[in-house]
Amino acid sequence: MIYNSIIDTIGNTPLVRLNKVNQGIPGEILVKVEYFNPGNSMKDRMAIKMVEDAEKAGLLKPGGTIIEGTSGNTGMGLALAAIAKGYKCIFTMADKQSKEKIDILKAVGAEVIVCPTNVAPEDPRSYYSVAKKLNKDIPNSFYPNQYDNLSNWRAHYESTGPEIWRDSEGKVTHYAAGVGTGGTISGTSKFLKEQNPDIVSVGIDTYGSVFKKYKETGIFDENEIYPYLTEGIGEDILPKNVDFSLIDHFIKVTDKDAAIMTRRLSREEGLFVGWSAGSAVHGALEYAREHLKEGDRMVILLPDHGSRYVGKVYNDEWMKNHGFLEDKTFATARDIISARSGDYQLVVVGKSDKVRDAIALMNESSVSQIPVMENGQVVGSITDNKLLSKIITDPSLKDASVTDVMEDSMKFVALGSTLDVLSSMVDKEKAVLVRDELDRIHIITKHDILTAVTK
Ligand SMILES: Cc1ncc(COP(=O)(O)O)c(C=O)c1O
Repeated sequence: MIYNSIIDTIGNTPLVRLNKVNQGIPGEILVKVEYFNPGNSMKDRMAIKMVEDAEKAGLLKPGGTIIEGTSGNTGMGLALAAIAKGYKCIFTMADKQSKEKIDILKAVGAEVIVCPTNVAPEDPRSYYSVAKKLNKDIPNSFYPNQYDNLSNWRAHYESTGPEIWRDSEGKVTHYAAGVGTGGTISGTSKFLKEQNPDIVSVGIDTYGSVFKKYKETGIFDENEIYPYLTEGIGEDILPKNVDFSLIDHFIKVTDKDAAIMTRRLSREEGLFVGWSAGSAVHGALEYAREHLKEGDRMVILLPDHGSRYVGKVYNDEWMKNHGFLEDKTFATARDIISARSGDYQLVVVGKSDKVRDAIALMNESSVSQIPVMENGQVVGSITDNKLLSKIITDPSLKDASVTDVMEDSMKFVALGSTLDVLSSMVDKEKAVLVRDELDRIHIITKHDILTAVTK
């Protein structure tokens, strides 16, 4: 068969049985290997659809420029579409992305602008904001906005879903995929559930992202947001392409568990896949171990190719430096709190307690910051030096309630967070919180991290 251009080869990726990493788990586990797409990821599917839908809507005209904020894979898909159709591409990218991804986009003719990762989406330096501004400034430019452009999920509704249904011979019972923009899981799940409403859809999320809590409680919790390393999944926003009604469960996977599973997929299954594929398989198998029965058939989508991660999860030095290999150089939050005595008790104050009593408690327990609680939930914090400057300005605050002086809550981190992640989060004064296996809350301060580093 001869194709007219490379973009005609997008889709029809294979469904492959897992044989090793799923041992002991009931049912059949199949993976949809999306690196067989010409841009080496499932994003080719939505990139070409966003471009063609924009052409139909008159948003993209001959000679135009495509501008997008992308972690690399969407950029590759858009670059291939642009080559086939004669457009120019400019991409903005967060600086946590692998260097390989940036070089790859340049290789296919795109201009790449690297932006800081750890700034809020609305900050003018963020890759979202820079892309929007370029779109405003450059005439005849088109900003696909993969987060909110519904052609994204529709591409997977039209191709990924039907392929899985066809290739699993209608026997798929569970579908699992990572959630970033949400296009892949929403479009595929919608198609599959229309064929069989009993199909269960499992979304894979990261620690540091808002999705799981939002699905389970309806709360967009800023305290869930903190830096993580896995590329492509998890968000600090709610993209329009995530249809929460189509995702039955979310599972969070740590950077480390994902990295280890990614390497196992290569070595034990011959699947040289990217980091988020490790997240998807680790999380999906965690779900499968508890919920799958003999005769069930789970399909897990593997987003991209391992070549983009040779400097990271496939590099032993990098893995060791992040504490992801057994002879780790970094301890984790778990190590810090497990060194504490069994009767450890977090010092807390209630929201309606008096400031005067909170100060006495801080003195008595020799702590400089305390979480503020209400109905078992952490709702804020007080730190001694901020409190002091407030009281110096207004001495009557001593008799006020804690609620009148409290600051934002400390953020929660995962038990497996390594010291490098912890130290990036413990900013000037504020500590972080972590829940242990018994659901007790612990505080980790800069001092705890320094002690652990020097051990
Ligand atoms: C490597 C990788 N994995 C997973 C995803 C998540 O897919 P989606 O954006 O369709 O939710 C992305 C998205 O950027 C990705 O690049």
